[in-house]
Order: sequence, then structure tokens, then C-alpha cells
Amino acid sequence: MQFTKYPHPANFAFVDSFDESTGIARVAQQEVRIEVRSFAGGVSHVRVVAPEIWTEHPHLAALTEPRPASSALLGVEQGFDLVVRNESGEEVLRSRPGQGLGLQGEASVFQFEVPENARFYGMGEKLFGRIELSGIRTWFWNTDVWSDFHWAQWNEHPSDPPYCSVPYVACDLGGQWVGLLMHNPGPVFVETPGRDDSRVFVEWQRTSRDLTMGSKLGEPNLWFVTDRSLAGLTRKLQTLVGVVPVPPLWSLGFHQSRWGYGGAKDLAELDRKLKQYAIPCDGLWLDLDYMRGFRIFTVDQDQFPDGVLPVAEEVAQNGRRIVPILDPGVKREPGLSLFEEGSSGGMFCQNEAGEPFVGLVWPGETVFPDFTMPKVREWWAAHVRDLMDQGFGACWVDMNDPSTGPVEPDGMLFRQGTEPHALHRNQYSLGMQMATVDGMTQARPEERPFLLSRSGCTGSSRYAAIWTGDNVSNEWYLRSAIPTLLGMSLSGLPFCGPDIGGFGGDADEETMVRWFQAAFLFPFFRNHTTADSRNEEPWAYRAPVRKLLAHFVRLRYRMMPYLYNLFVQHATTGDAILRPLCYEFDSGDLAEVCDQFMVGPSVLQAPVLTLGEHSRPLVLPGDASWMCLRTGHWREPGVHTVRTSLATTPAYLRQGAVLPLTVQEPRTVRGDHSDVAFLLAAPPGWKGETAYEYVVDDGLSRDHDGAQQSKVLVRAEGDGKLVHVRFTQTADGFGPVRCRAWLPLGVVGAGLTEGEETTVRLTGSGFRVQALS
Ligand code: NOJ
Repeated sequence: MQFTKYPHPANFAFVDSFDESTGIARVAQQEVRIEVRSFAGGVSHVRVVAPEIWTEHPHLAALTEPRPASSALLGVEQGFDLVVRNESGEEVLRSRPGQGLGLQGEASVFQFEVPENARFYGMGEKLFGRIELSGIRTWFWNTDVWSDFHWAQWNEHPSDPPYCSVPYVACDLGGQWVGLLMHNPGPVFVETPGRDDSRVFVEWQRTSRDLTMGSKLGEPNLWFVTDRSLAGLTRKLQTLVGVVPVPPLWSLGFHQSRWGYGGAKDLAELDRKLKQYAIPCDGLWLDLDYMRGFRIFTVDQDQFPDGVLPVAEEVAQNGRRIVPILDPGVKREPGLSLFEEGSSGGMFCQNEAGEPFVGLVWPGETVFPDFTMPKVREWWAAHVRDLMDQGFGACWVDMNDPSTGPVEPDGMLFRQGTEPHALHRNQYSLGMQMATVDGMTQARPEERPFLLSRSGCTGSSRYAAIWTGDNVSNEWYLRSAIPTLLGMSLSGLPFCGPDIGGFGGDADEETMVRWFQAAFLFPFFRNHTTADSRNEEPWAYRAPVRKLLAHFVRLRYRMMPYLYNLFVQHATTGDAILRPLCYEFDSGDLAEVCDQFMVGPSVLQAPVLTLGEHSRPLVLPGDASWMCLRTGHWREPGVHTVRTSLATTPAYLRQGAVLPLTVQEPRTVRGDHSDVAFLLAAPPGWKGETAYEYVVDDGLSRDHDGAQQSKVLVRAEGDGKLVHVRFTQTADGFGPVRCRAWLPLGVVGAGLTEGEETTVRLTGSGFRVQALS
């Protein structure tokens, strides 16, 4: 794949006539059938069908289509102008006249006119270092970044494309948002018009004035989502591609990993150290070294002389689970049962000669299960079930881009050698995710499964959290983690996180502290590093630094009721967990801010991202004051400079927010969330009302109808002198909830229980909740 070349419209033939009654369009000498459909909420879809060019739509990710709309939103006018309308029937997007849809062999391209001041967001996992994505030409093609590019291309720079492909662009067309999702697992390209042409020195360098989206092969399949706000648009997109099912609570905790932890001894030592330093941690992760010579589904006997179960039980006493890595590649080793089984069952991707395709990965010569086939997913799931039964708590799937090492992957064919590599490459990881989740579910049918995956595509949200692969312990990756995660959050992959501290290189004290401060509320929170880096566990640093790292881990656990509830809400509404400021606040000035972010609707984080700095600019959006989470002091909205030491990070609570917290600072993972304190962000003299619904359950079992949940409705009203807080328990499937009100008064409401009400006089400021950040 050439990542730096892009198709030019001049090489495409464009549809020039369309017969509405038959749906047949003509392109040069060819006929294709155009299907357009419209759905409730301003969602629409165009599909181009031509069995002699493209096989039936092969995407493994089934979309959740809304109910049909009462009137057509997507129209085809004149020759072939695609016209996209919102739910009110207003036109919001129109294709380039006469050049709306072009074909060139199996390749296709759509071109849309957009206003000059249009802004672009999303694009899934990208590392461009910004959230606003004008002037970008990019391919969607899953890579193994460290293997596919020279280090100079990724060490301190954006590298593109990375591991995960979601060809989705959210366009701000000035008061109207349109999202375009190319639902095609093949290589997709996107070009957005640029805003700054000052460096153009020959005309042909000028970025196109159109929004261009196309694919190299695979059926053209384009979805449109419309809304008046970015938040509304994101909710609709997420509902279409599938929300993240409420994850097990433990998966939202702190995770300790490194490439190098081998077996039972290392795990027991980690468990001991975490306990000694009172650092809550839910997951202990094993990289390649637990296997016998990189053979997947094996456990090395030297590393685990008594098997996994005894140490799994030991660490479980402190609430921890062991998570092993799983690569897709099977060692090509005659006599190895997995290889033999897979070969005789026709489970592997094939080469032109009809033999299993061979790549070079960790075990040397490696063959690859073809996860596009249901029988292969079943076979894989059975092995995952057996692995889990040995005592593991979840799975971590890696190298599923799929990485073939230095071997060109084009010859890796799918479906018994009948379908080209490129057609399925971007969904290879999705098939692996589906099969792995199936295996985990078979092993523990009562529990919610948790899977972490490196690669992904549209629809991965239903199966896996995605981490952003191999980053580096430097300032560039620290800073760019935020726009990367925000892009994913706007593209249907909200359960995401980077390797905290950086994977490659050594994280020094300051780098590590700044990473923990930036990331302590990221949806997924794992400290991971590579094989030859320094030790990077919190206790590998001097005591004052270790204490700081421990503090931010505990703070995450303290705010866990809030974080968990964001996931509960997400599963219903599709709202993102991490949000750019422009998701919550409608102001042009915020459109490009990506060194600050919102965690849910209530918490604003502005971490220090420049090493050596102890102050930074801060924007507090909206028209109401914000409460500093650490001091309880109030700041006016606007632009500020905020000073911090290495020990603190700027974080603010939105006025009127209700933040559920654990009552004590957690020092272990056993937080009981049915005893909860609600911090109400009400400044002195507060006049207003607010409401928040709090949900609590056991955080583990599958509960599709919500019958095992308890719910509390918290309502508060301030009249400038008094604040009146009321708790109403509206569901009690998980038993009674003990609620307390914490108000900015220095007064801690004492043990209010179900249905109780409290009224507190607003007399001053200076409130503190045990230094929250
Ligand atoms: C690549 C992954 O991105 C990394 O996290 C892992 O440690 C190595 N593979 C070794 O398994």
C-alpha cells in the first residue's frame, strides 16, 4: 500500500445519468444500481450495487439502523447530485455537480461541496496532534506502526495510518453537523479541504475544495448522520455503530503492565508491592513471556510451575485479575496441535497457491486464522474458553492489524483464497475481537467480558476497548494522546486509552507524573512499557514521585462512581466519555482546543503537557464560574493562566454539577459504590436547580434489563441563601443506597439515606474535599 499517493478525480468516470424509477445509474459504459434509504433522526444511506464489480457487502459489523424516516432525506437530483437533508428536511450537503460519484475499476469516490469555513473532526484513531482536521489527506489501512514505518517517522511525529480504521468524518458546516461514515472494510481514503493555503507554491498542490471520500475496492457504502450539535451527531453515530456495553467495573480501574512480566513470581511480587504502597489496581497484565516460545494458547511451565490458578486466586484476594496477551499468529510448526488443527480444518488465510499464508512475527514463521469465517471464530473461541479456564480474568489482543512483520501482506487471502487481502484487512481485528469475546463469554457466562485490542474498526465498540498502540515516553505523545482519544471518542470508539508513561523509551519522573495527571480519568488507564525500558511501576520512582502517582490512581478510584456512571449513560444515549470542549459548549473559539478536555459533562481537565513548565493557559468555557477540584475555589469563565507545581493538575467542576464520589479515599480496589457522596458544585449564593441520576450495581454480572440496578435521583435547588438537596431512590434492584450531600460550605451532610432531604444554609466558601486533584 502506498500511503502517500491519493486517487485523482480525473482518473474516475463520473455517473452522468440516473433513472429514478429503476435506480439504475450509468457510468461510462457501465450500469450500477443506486440504493438510497432514509431513517429517523436525519440518518441516511447510499449504496452502489454492481455484482460484477464488487462482491456483496462484506462488513462484519452490523449497523443498528434506526426506523425508516417518514419522508426521503437523501435525494438524487439532475444527472447525479446527491442531496443530504436533515430531519427537518433542510438541505445540508450536496455532491459536486456532475462529479458526485466516480468509478475507476473497483475504486469509487464521492465528492461533496462544503463551505469555506467548514471544520472536520473524528476520523477514528489518528495521530495528527489536533482535533480539527482540515487539510488532511489520509488512508484508512490498519498498520503495525513500529514495524511498518521507520522510527524516525513515529518517534516524535504523527505517523499515518496507525492501527485502527474508522473512516468517519464529522463536518461542522456552520450550525449544522453532518457525519459521513464509509462502511467498507477495504482501504478508504479521505481528503478534507485546507484552511491555510499560504504554503501552496504550485496550483496542483492546492488541497481540493471538496470533501472527498472513496475506497480502493469494496462496495461503495456511505452513511450520513445529521444533527444541530456535535453531541447529537456523536450520539446518533454511536447508536448506529453500536454502543459500548456497560463494562465490568474492574476494567475501569488501574492496570499495571510491562513487556517482561513472565509468570507467577512476577505477579505475586506486583500484588505485594501494590498492597504495600496501598495503590488500588485491578489488572495485572502478562505480555508474551508467559507463553511457551510465543506459541499462543500455551502457558510456560517454568513460569507457572503450578499452573495459573494458584496465583490467580492469590491476587484475587486483593481484587485483581490476570490478563494475558494473545496474538493472532500461530507458529508454523508441524506437530504443534494448534497448527495441525488449523491446517486440517482450513482455518488459515491462504496464499495464491492455496497454502497457509506465512508471515514473520514473534514465533518466526507464522500463519493467520481467517476470522472472517464463522467456523474459524468458533474454533478460536473454544481455545479462548480453555485459556480462560486456566485462571485468567480477561484478554488482551495484539498484533491484529494484522502484523506480518517484514512480509508484504498482499498475498494473504481470505475465505479459502477467494477474496483479496485489502478487502478484509481493516476488519481482521474485529473478527478476532468477536471470537475472543465469544470464548470469554463461554468461560464465564455470568460475567461481563472485558477485551483490550490494539487494532479495530467501525463496530469494535461492541466488543473491545482500544488502546492506541506503541507510543513513546516523550512530550509529543503525551500531548497528542488527547486529540487522538478525542477523535476516537467522536468516531464511535469511546472506550480508549494510551500506554500511560509511553511504551518506548524511559519515562523520567516528571514525564511519568504528567502522564498520570493527564490520564487519570481516561476511559482506559493502563501503565505499560516495552521490554528494554526502565522499570516504570509507581514504586520504581523515588518516594515523593511514587506517592504522587499513587495519589492520582486513588483519585481515579475516588471518582469511579462518576466514571462508571458515564459508561452507564453512554450505553443508553451513546454520549462520549471524553469530550472536546466544543461538544459541551457552543462557541467558535473552542473548535480547535485539544490540550483541555471534558470527562463527561461535568469535569474539565487542563493538564500540564509541556515538560519543565509549571503554568499553562486555561480556558473556562460557558458563562458560569467553575470550581477547582483541588481547592474548592471558584474561577470566572474566560481565559486564564494557571500555575501548578509538579504535584497538582488543573481540573475544574462545572457549576451545578453533581459528582458522585466514594466516601473515603480508596486504598484498595474494593470501593462500595452503594455508599456514595454527592459533591454539588454550588458557589456561595447559588441560585439554580440541578438533577442527576445515579446508578449502582454489582459492576460485574450481565444484567440486560437493569433489574439488578439501584438508582437514586439527586435533585438540588439553591435560592441564593439555602440549598435544598433531595435524594429519591427510584430503583432498588441492588439494595438501598446510602447517600451523603457534600456542599461547598465546609459542611459535610451526615449520612442522608433514601428519601431524606436536607437544607443547608449557604454561608461561605473555602470548602475542600480532601484535595481532589
Ligand atoms: C506490540 C504491542 O503494541 C505492545 O504493547 C506489546 O508489548 C508488544 N507487541 C509485545 O507483545
